[in-house]
Amino acid sequence: MPDDPEAFRRLLLERGVLRSPTATLSPLTGGVSSEIYRADDGDRVFVVKRALAKLKVAADWFADTARNAHEQAYIAYVARFRPDAVPAIVAGGEADGFFAMEFLDGFDNWKTELLAGRTDPAVAARAGAILGDIHARSHNDTVAAERFDTLKNFRELRIDPYLVSTAEKNPDLKSAILADAAALADTAEALVHGDYSPKNLLVRPDRLVALDCEVAWFGDPAFDVAFLLNHLLLKGLYHAPTPVELRPLYDAVVAAYVSAHPIHGPAVLARTPRLLRWLLLARVDGKSPVEYLTSAKQDFVRRFVRTHTLDAPALPLFADRWFSALGQRPNPA
Ligand SMILES: Nc1ncnc2c1ncn2[C@@H]1O[C@H](COP(=O)(O)OP(=O)(O)O)[C@@H](O)[C@H]1O
Ligand SMILES: [Mg+2]
Repeated sequence: MPDDPEAFRRLLLERGVLRSPTATLSPLTGGVSSEIYRADDGDRVFVVKRALAKLKVAADWFADTARNAHEQAYIAYVARFRPDAVPAIVAGGEADGFFAMEFLDGFDNWKTELLAGRTDPAVAARAGAILGDIHARSHNDTVAAERFDTLKNFRELRIDPYLVSTAEKNPDLKSAILADAAALADTAEALVHGDYSPKNLLVRPDRLVALDCEVAWFGDPAFDVAFLLNHLLLKGLYHAPTPVELRPLYDAVVAAYVSAHPIHGPAVLARTPRLLRWLLLARVDGKSPVEYLTSAKQDFVRRFVRTHTLDAPALPLFADRWFSALGQRPNPA
């Protein structure tokens, strides 16, 4: 799938998104599914993202363009009430298959920070508050329900590769995993980001921005909470036996989420552990395993899920069990 930045550059010039003939596009690293470039156009700097221009079959290209449009729609939806939490859109439209957004200058990628052992509960609180806000604002919103009627996409990119493939690899858990996958697909309650993970959260002391929402779906918000908490648990495992303090971050996400989403948030959090346990396992046995766990640590996850989560413990107890299995004190003061 060769990118073709020159063809894209010409298109952006034709559309007037780029103004100077000497404007340049430089690939941004970290992305996997799209073409994403930093554009330097005279003294303007911004970022352009488009559906991959060349894919094996046309059907893939249409799927990809649709995802790019969903991403734009999600950003526009959230910008109405939390403009700080998404990149400002500079150009593009849902029909274009691309968009231009502000270049987020001076931000750190939160995943990089966590892997380096820099853990700031204030960042976690901000991530939880933004998520709670988005879920609260979109709760039972018929406009969002109609625009993000994207279960097929969510199934292909999330339910199948994470849950169904994990069920296939773990026959003893298969029926339980598939039951929760079916309940997930059946829930249509709020706007789900679908990839609310530290790698897609850019942070600065005064602002946190969520990127990469092409899996956006009007569905079960518990998925987003589980997705995020899962990454915090796994960072704790990555650092073990070094006791990097991830528990305060986990607790900060939960507390900030429920403050931002006080009416329906508690029910979302009550559903979260069921998904959280399978997402832990999915990051070892699913189609998108994390790259930073040794095989001994992968086995730790497989054992932990079977020994400590089959009763789907409430979130605080879930974390108590996880961090004490890691040899850390269960309830930091
Ligand atoms: N507006 C932006 N400003 C600065 N960096 C960005 C911006 N958008 C994306 N990036 C960088 O590019 C990476 C990939 O972007 P992302 O939207 O996550 O694409 P992909 O779908 O390929 O994962 C991000 O992790 C981030 O580091
Ligand atoms: Mg990304």
